[in-house]
Amino acid sequence: MSADARLITALDLPTIEEAKNLVAAIGDAGCFYKIGLQLFPLGGMELCRELKSAGHGVFLDFKLHDISATVEKATRSIAPSGADYLTIHAEPPVMRAAHKGREGTGLKLLAVTVMTSYDDAMLKEMGFAYGARDLVLMRTEQALEAGCDGVIASAHEAEELRARFGPGFDIVTPGIRPAGSAADDQARIATPAEAISMGATRIVVGRPVNAAPDPRKAALAINAEMAGV
Ligand code: C5P
Repeated sequence: MSADARLITALDLPTIEEAKNLVAAIGDAGCFYKIGLQLFPLGGMELCRELKSAGHGVFLDFKLHDISATVEKATRSIAPSGADYLTIHAEPPVMRAAHKGREGTGLKLLAVTVMTSYDDAMLKEMGFAYGARDLVLMRTEQALEAGCDGVIASAHEAEELRARFGPGFDIVTPGIRPAGSAADDQARIATPAEAISMGATRIVVGRPVNAAPDPRKAALAINAEMAGV
């Protein structure tokens, strides 16, 4: 896969117009975009269709988490948009329902293992008996059993996931920070090159590109870093 296809830029912006401007500013330095809950209520699905018609990859980061019937029907409604990836929470009933909902379509399912903004202390506060590492391993195994195409996991877990579960699934990694940039609210961060060398298939980058003074330059620097791995 080429380096620019590995970069998924998160369109975490307040308006569709700003998202379109960012895509235009990045130009041929990017070809895959993530639409999340910020743009969803503002025409995010229409933007998804437009990006697909323009030949881009689209990742819908909606993190579905509901009763099985609702997850199945929501996934079935989302699939015709042509999106490449949809995220769901990594709970077995949720994942099995989404798998049923996307049957016969090209939509790939990515299970959100543990938010990259969470550390072990936060997981303990939420009542989990496992720390991030163990929870990610358990949930990845369950995701693959449920028929998901991959997982969202931090670079720090990617290496172990590859070693344990092999090459046949996607690991999409957020929490990416090029050397020298601010961590913001992310806890388990890595540079673009580290993430790829640790086994990530693609990386999700938000603020280091979407808040950069020159987003195209930022995307090109990230692509160059990944190409060197
Ligand atoms: O700005 P930043 O690079 O931190 O953005 C990361 C993006 O990846 C955000 O859109 C966030 O919602 C998403 N994400 C994440 N951790 C996960 C799943 C998704 O940071 N586990």
